Amino acid sequence: MKHDKPATTNPIDQLKVVGKATERIDGKLKTTGTAPYAYERHDAAPNAAYGVMVGASIAKGKISSIDAIAAKASPGVIAIVTALDAGPLGLAKRNTAKLLAGPDVQHYHQAVALVVAETFEQATAAAQLVRVQYLKALGSFDLAAAKATAIKPPPSNGAAPDTAVGNFAAAFAGAAVKLDATYTTPDHAHAMMEPHATIASWSGEKLTVWTSNQMVDWAVTDLAETLKIPKANVRVVSPYIGGGFGGKLFLRADALLAALGARAAGRAVKVTLPRPLMFNNTVHRPATIQRIRLGASRSGVISAIGHESWSGDLKGGGSDASVSQTRLLYSGAHRMTATRLAVLDLTESNAMRAPGEATGLMALEIAIDELAEKLKMDPIELRVRNDTQVDPEKPSRPFSQRSLIECLRTGAEQFGWSKRNAQPGSTRDGRWLVGMGVAAAIRGNPVMKSAARVRLDKAGVITVETDMTDIGTGSYTIIAQTAAETMGVSLDNVVVKLGDSTFPVSSGSGGQWGGNSSTSGVYAACMKLREAIVQKLGFGADAVFANGEVQSGTKRTSLASVAGDSGMVAEDFIEFGDLDKTYEQSTFGAHFVEVGVDAATGEIRVRRMLAVCSCGRILNPKTARSQVIGGMTMGVGAALMEEMVVDTRRGFFVNHDLAGYEVPVHADIPHQDVIFLQQTDPVSSPMKAKGVGELGICGVAAAVANAVYNATGVRVRDYPITLDKLL
Ligand code: MOS
Repeated sequence: MKHDKPATTNPIDQLKVVGKATERIDGKLKTTGTAPYAYERHDAAPNAAYGVMVGASIAKGKISSIDAIAAKASPGVIAIVTALDAGPLGLAKRNTAKLLAGPDVQHYHQAVALVVAETFEQATAAAQLVRVQYLKALGSFDLAAAKATAIKPPPSNGAAPDTAVGNFAAAFAGAAVKLDATYTTPDHAHAMMEPHATIASWSGEKLTVWTSNQMVDWAVTDLAETLKIPKANVRVVSPYIGGGFGGKLFLRADALLAALGARAAGRAVKVTLPRPLMFNNTVHRPATIQRIRLGASRSGVISAIGHESWSGDLKGGGSDASVSQTRLLYSGAHRMTATRLAVLDLTESNAMRAPGEATGLMALEIAIDELAEKLKMDPIELRVRNDTQVDPEKPSRPFSQRSLIECLRTGAEQFGWSKRNAQPGSTRDGRWLVGMGVAAAIRGNPVMKSAARVRLDKAGVITVETDMTDIGTGSYTIIAQTAAETMGVSLDNVVVKLGDSTFPVSSGSGGQWGGNSSTSGVYAACMKLREAIVQKLGFGADAVFANGEVQSGTKRTSLASVAGDSGMVAEDFIEFGDLDKTYEQSTFGAHFVEVGVDAATGEIRVRRMLAVCSCGRILNPKTARSQVIGGMTMGVGAALMEEMVVDTRRGFFVNHDLAGYEVPVHADIPHQDVIFLQQTDPVSSPMKAKGVGELGICGVAAAVANAVYNATGVRVRDYPITLDKLL
């Protein structure tokens, strides 16, 4: 099925099952520890040996020798794979750094060996005995120092192009009110709960991996490219995932090493990355330095917007897309954006929840607050005044739906914004200085081709198969709701099977495209099955699917009986035309935050949070809310605590575990409210839904920063906002 014009009325609009706050189908399995994660698939590979990775202890240079003699002689050791004897490996185009070093070392903790033994303890002990000699080279690790050498990133790595509309320099120079400020965001870790883990098993030339990966088909392709084997020989299974946040979009070392280890050992091998290796071995959200210039009239009409961002990555990598949303969020006739890339020899920079949007809005939405203050305007009014219903760079292209003003107004009303004192540092509650902050949220709504297969059996049960993943988002549930709605059956007559490359290729989970795209693919397959059923029964186009039956005129038949003993099956995919050229499809929101800051110690506590979101039809208000409050929580982490500290001499992230890399815990987060505007967006898909998961984090950190400013009068432009920066 092709979606190349706005959706019309269709079975989803009945909203008998879709749109209901259904509990997650996998919820009980996950919370009771009975959803098996990759490392726990004892059933699939009962005899698996254990692989333990050795990570490089330098950040840049060459391996001169690896002495594995003592390790090989260690008890229980079965095989050792090293960078120097693994045979020729390819580099998948989605990876910048090699997953197994050699002879060059590209970053600290890059894998240099895998030790395979009968037990995890034996493999861990033997891994300590692997002696690696290096020739160290000088590296570059400090973004601030490397900024001067940053270059315009080549378009080949997907970087945002520089943009220029009108005459920014002249408009900025001539503006009555100006802001020119620089903001910094640090390196962030995905810090998902389930570490990267894989069990690999070979049967002749055929490889099966049980792994934790957001994008099953990418993993198949990238394993095949890296191992230089045909794609048809690789099966990837990833039905349950304990979080990803972008860190599991791409193939990582656990999967490759498990495959190499299993080949060397001649039996299945399981590999997980211990938490202290994850931070420097895998990928991270890169630090940014962002300069924002805003020029406005005294009445608050923005005429000039300039946003430049500097970030780092390994050679061949890309820049953080921090400026992307500045191109769309506010009107203004004269505008420019640019990203610049510094080569840094830290681990690979990569996508993390709302890549670019999250970082960019951390800066832009403080800048808007600062401009409002210069104008002596309410920051909501400033945003409203500069709203636009068309792409500011291309006015002939409207937003398919843009309700930012409604988000801001609704939030202001619900949050009690009118009680905010615009004078910073003037509201006291005992020892607490209290402040409120607001920020706008915007995030694109990408869509991806997505396929599914649906079967009807003689019990009237619909089974959906697609390689879609559920990274904790609720994919199982919204897919079941979609199939139930389309086929006119109850939710308990739908079985959903996900995360196996033997199933049709889905959108996967990333970029907040998964929910909308994968359910659209399931909808397409169900519509095909409906056609087949109608045809088999000789019913007319008026056939209605409801209550497990098909009805046409006076005729009615149960789905169970039409299926017969052999059942019926249909497969289809959704593919998206170029509606996104005609319409800019974004999701919008407004975040409101109240903080208390201890007047003596500077301790910051978030007291209240509210998000108002506009993101098309909400397929399941419960799972959607969970996505948004997860994003809000992550945004508080970015605002107040998350920071990987770079050792700029030795070139690694110092705080590489969850003791040193702090994320919010329950005690840090107050009750969170989420309001979804009741909308549908027919441009987006037949589901009329949009992405939710990444919108939730966008703007949150800036709302916290603005609240801290309102509470204290101290403007912090360098994240995270720790108490030392307030004193
Ligand atoms: Mo997302 S950063 O595309 O998982």
